Amino acid sequence: MQTKIEKISTLSALAVNNIQEVCNQEVDFLSFREKLSLANISKIEKRNEWKAARLAIKAALDCISLPYPGFYKDEHGKSHAMDGYGHVSLTHTKGIAAAIFHKDMPVGIDLDYVREKVVRLGQKFLDHSEIEFLKSDPLLYTMAWSAKESIYKCQGRKGISLKENILLKPFGVEDQVIQGKVYDSEFSDHFYSVKVEVSGEMVLTYTIW
Ligand SMILES: CC(C)(COP(=O)(O)OP(=O)(O)OC[C@H]1O[C@@H](n2cnc3c(N)ncnc32)[C@H](O)[C@@H]1OP(=O)(O)O)[C@@H](O)C(=O)NCCC(=O)NCCS
Repeated sequence: MQTKIEKISTLSALAVNNIQEVCNQEVDFLSFREKLSLANISKIEKRNEWKAARLAIKAALDCISLPYPGFYKDEHGKSHAMDGYGHVSLTHTKGIAAAIFHKDMPVGIDLDYVREKVVRLGQKFLDHSEIEFLKSDPLLYTMAWSAKESIYKCQGRKGISLKENILLKPFGVEDQVIQGKVYDSEFSDHFYSVKVEVSGEMVLTYTIW
């Protein structure tokens, strides 16, 4: 997947960073607390992933002409803007990082490589009704996994199970949006639309409004 910056609307943007391309860039815009967090990551690969994800937020914010406010994490691990305005979500994996920002609505984003082994893990994160339409296809399984991770990050609370509390409507490889809901939790049902982009062996998903 290529590095890109995409304006989704006047309120929302996302950016994908190829880590190799951005890992030498300056991150002077980070807050003091974020600089401390970065300095505490001992493995260089993980440090570069973390940094590339923050550079992606910065690029997304620049795209909709908003300043970088600095972000802190709540007790669930979800990031929040220090000035209290807007919502952010981050993802990073080997070689690639991405972030999405929305001025008004919660967001979730996820990046995954398509791997054969995801089919074996299906029982752990899928409902039996989902297993029926996914047809043991690694690409469909990865799309389902990633969509659930994006929904999980959008809702943000630990304790929500991908298998028991997030249910996807049937979809196929040609679909660009997956519908899903968070259900059977202590809160009322919430419905989500998740955009899917497949590029080579990579699946990118993010919640849209
Ligand atoms: C938290 C979780 C979503 C992170 O996903 P991941 O694939 O490991 O990693 P990603 O790179 O895609 O995302 C990492 C980012 O998620 C964000 N994140 C962590 N917890 C979060 C939460 N509760 N809500 C929203 N975002 C969260 C963080 O910003 C993190 O990046 P950072 O550490 O650089 O700040 C994942 O570990 C998880 O808990 N998934 C759901 C639980 C589950 O059911 N797992 C197993 C089922 S078989």
